[in-house]
Amino acid sequence: MKSNTEKFGKTPHQPSLWTRADALKVHADDPTTTQPLVSADFPVLSNEVFIWDTMPLRDLDGNITSVDGWSVIFTLTADRHPNDPQYIDENGNYDITRDWNDRHGRAKMYYWFSRTGKDWELGGRVMAEGVSPTAREWAGTPILLNEQGEVDLYYTAVTPGATIVKVRGRVVTTEHGVSMVGFEKVKPLFEADGKMYQTEAQNPFWGFRDPWPFRDPNDGKLYMLFEGNVAGERGSHTVGKAEIGDVPPGYEDVGNSRFQTACVGIAVARDEDGDDWEMLPPLLTAVGVNDQTERPHFVFQDGKYYLFTISHTFTYADGVTGPDGVYGFVADSLFGPYVPLNGSGLVLGNPSSQPFQTYSHCVMPNGLVTSFIDSVPTDESGTQIRIGGTEAPTVGIKIKGQQTFVVAEYDYGYIPPMLDVTLK
Ligand code: FRU
Repeated sequence: MKSNTEKFGKTPHQPSLWTRADALKVHADDPTTTQPLVSADFPVLSNEVFIWDTMPLRDLDGNITSVDGWSVIFTLTADRHPNDPQYIDENGNYDITRDWNDRHGRAKMYYWFSRTGKDWELGGRVMAEGVSPTAREWAGTPILLNEQGEVDLYYTAVTPGATIVKVRGRVVTTEHGVSMVGFEKVKPLFEADGKMYQTEAQNPFWGFRDPWPFRDPNDGKLYMLFEGNVAGERGSHTVGKAEIGDVPPGYEDVGNSRFQTACVGIAVARDEDGDDWEMLPPLLTAVGVNDQTERPHFVFQDGKYYLFTISHTFTYADGVTGPDGVYGFVADSLFGPYVPLNGSGLVLGNPSSQPFQTYSHCVMPNGLVTSFIDSVPTDESGTQIRIGGTEAPTVGIKIKGQQTFVVAEYDYGYIPPMLDVTLK
């Protein structure tokens, strides 16, 4: 049987491995890699909608960008249904937990704007109903292309299938706010190929989503990161010596970990505009370790490539575990080899007393980490929870060589611009 990495041939690069040995070093509640407790009395952005994955407007180099002094974020968004009989329980109360848990099926892309980098005002939907070809508009990245305000929104069109797509529009500002115009023609870019990246036919639980385009600071070419799983029929993957790594005696048993096959995918553009893409072998695989490496993104710092990706406790394989949060890897060149930050990969995890307090962290080049509030316990036992669906307090981390440290906490949803573009 072919090993997981043999699938990718000799060129152009071999994926780096997040091994089971690396993951054994993951420890929740280390204060340097744990998100401060989120208080249950958090404010909500909106009583009409839930928001989760947050996508700040940025340029292709990764800089968070405001336009004419307005900060802009895109969010995955779903209506709240406090009065919908479907979500009223037998006691006549709104079952917000069920409403929240169902949100993925009706996710839509919305945008928000602000003068202060927080206190976001709702702009509205980015695409009109019927423009996006599938039921779900899943995560991606809005890119400000130029001083004319043109924006390429890369995102994932899901159900049926999962296709990485893009749609072009324009951001327009006035003294009073921001609007998005255009965003009328969605262009499919690519889907999983079944050779490098797992397809739905190979595994109904496959992941293929979350495009993050960028310009490589070294070769200047346009690339894109995305979330995938390593190709192959579900259950056919091998968790061999390479995937296990250097474990102590007694840790060789991999259980059923062959079902966890996450990877961070990469594609390169064949054209300047990013309309024509070629998928390359993954940058990083987590076979036998974890089934999801979501929303991968980079911070380019000190001449190094810092690769971040979010993951869950429930997606870890047998015999390894870690908190929900953001994990990171560092390399000296784009194609690796990548080594886990802090030895384990864990950069910012939820505290074990509030395991679901936040998710979908995005590390920005200024060291600020934004995320959303999922649910926070409201009693000692943790049986009562308050659902979030809103922005979490921003956390500051310091990235130093192969280590990271939590160093600051800021206001809810604080996403300050790194540069301002005056539109022409
Ligand atoms: C992360 C995520 C993304 C996906 C979206 C779906 O929170 O799972 O990977 O695009 O949420 O709602």
